Amino acid sequence: MTGPESEESPVRRAVCPGSFDPITNGHLDIIARASRLYDEVYVAVMINKSKKGLFEIEERIDLIRTVTAEYGNVRVEAFHGLLVDFCKQRDIPAIVKGLRAVSDFDYELQMAQMNNGLSGVETLFVPTNPTYSFLSSSLVKAVAAWGGDFAHLVPPEVLTALTERLRED
Ligand code: PNS
Repeated sequence: MTGPESEESPVRRAVCPGSFDPITNGHLDIIARASRLYDEVYVAVMINKSKKGLFEIEERIDLIRTVTAEYGNVRVEAFHGLLVDFCKQRDIPAIVKGLRAVSDFDYELQMAQMNNGLSGVETLFVPTNPTYSFLSSSLVKAVAAWGGDFAHLVPPEVLTALTERLRED
């Protein structure tokens, strides 16, 4: 419902979902921009039991909380299930996603249409900062594993955590 009789929450909320294994500067750029557009931004760390990550869910959450603390309106939570259920339970009408390139668009469009069809939640696409258009958690891990320089691709806390994790393995 829209207009003066709307029952929508006056608090404008959005969610930035992902695996965040680990968070990169590309993710952080999107979260920071969403935090300027919305009153409250949830970062949903979606649990995928069939995919073992390099970092445990709690470790990913701790890193995201640390690097988003300065924004003041970002909440970080794990969730196992459909993203639309996460949104419904928290009264979140919008999903914010970064688009790095046209190649992202096919799958992102499918998910956006599915999510809208399931529950009416909207997806807002934000063009990624071109500095990060090639960036993904998987590529960062690959570069790090082979001793490449990735300091400019992740926040300093992630640089430390990833370096230590790879030393342990
Ligand atoms: O960082 P990723 O792995 O690219 O994020 C993908 C993610 C977690 C956002 C997406 O897989 C997702 O929304 N998963 C939650 C389960 C769900 O709602 N699936 C239906 C999507 S149409």
